[in-house]
Amino acid sequence: MNRTVYLNGEYLPEDEAKVSIFDRGFLMADAVYEVVSVLDGKLLEFSGHIKRLERSLGELDMAKPKNFDNLLDIHRTLVARNNVQEGGVYLQITRGVADRDFVYPKDAEPTLVMFTQERPIIESPAAKTGMRIISTEDLRWGRRDIKTVQLLYPSMAKMMAKAAGVDDAWLVEDGFVTEGTSNNAYIVKDGKIITRSLSHDILHGITRASVLRYAAEAQMIVEERNFTIEEAQSADEAFITSASAFVTPVIEVDGAKLGGGTPGPVAGRLREIYIEESRKAGI
Ligand code: PDD
Repeated sequence: MNRTVYLNGEYLPEDEAKVSIFDRGFLMADAVYEVVSVLDGKLLEFSGHIKRLERSLGELDMAKPKNFDNLLDIHRTLVARNNVQEGGVYLQITRGVADRDFVYPKDAEPTLVMFTQERPIIESPAAKTGMRIISTEDLRWGRRDIKTVQLLYPSMAKMMAKAAGVDDAWLVEDGFVTEGTSNNAYIVKDGKIITRSLSHDILHGITRASVLRYAAEAQMIVEERNFTIEEAQSADEAFITSASAFVTPVIEVDGAKLGGGTPGPVAGRLREIYIEESRKAGI
């Protein structure tokens, strides 16, 4: 693989892009990120992702990198140079390079790293078969609304899922599902879509916001409230949303099959709508 990546103002071959060992992203996970999906070579939900990025930076008192106002152009250039039709653009901003200290450095220049990843989204196997998930305790920090690169626990939870022979884990706190390792979680009962409401406990998914809007427009009932794993196990269907998975059905929760173990109609319909609308709105 020899992608062209972006680092602090330069487009470089991927093996030439190097970040300092003193970068606070490396030393302290002092960094935020976004993933913008690419479909038909176009960027999806760009403005939503950039708004959330600005919010994450603000919550952490982190400065914007110099080229912040050119992010759309940089995204497009990377997609074009790497000829990406389907996949995503990963973007990370760190507080920058400074000698190791718990106190934020005053004058560090933020680091901006971006690269593309090609991956099938429309024809993903999970979209057809549905995902099997297990639950595990949510041991992440208390500000999951900020999209930081502290992803070790989500990564451990994903490995627990793999070790159990399934696809992903839903995280549970005080008896209620928060979200998936890298996606928002939903169940469907008697035609009602149920998902946890927004707070510091979950990431405010950009896909979530659009999918809930499309659901309301299609006269589906949405209930934003907590739900348990037991409630999920007796649901008619379930699904997840994220920039990289769009809407993907869930067919099994901790060993209990939902809807006879095949993807449900609400997830299927929302996935269709999301793809259709995304194809129209990509930039
Ligand atoms: N993850 N919740 C968590 C914990 C996430 O990491 C993500 C996204 C989401 C969905 O957010 P959005 O719809 O804005 O992608 C919810 C990205 C895709 C990732 O880490 O790769």
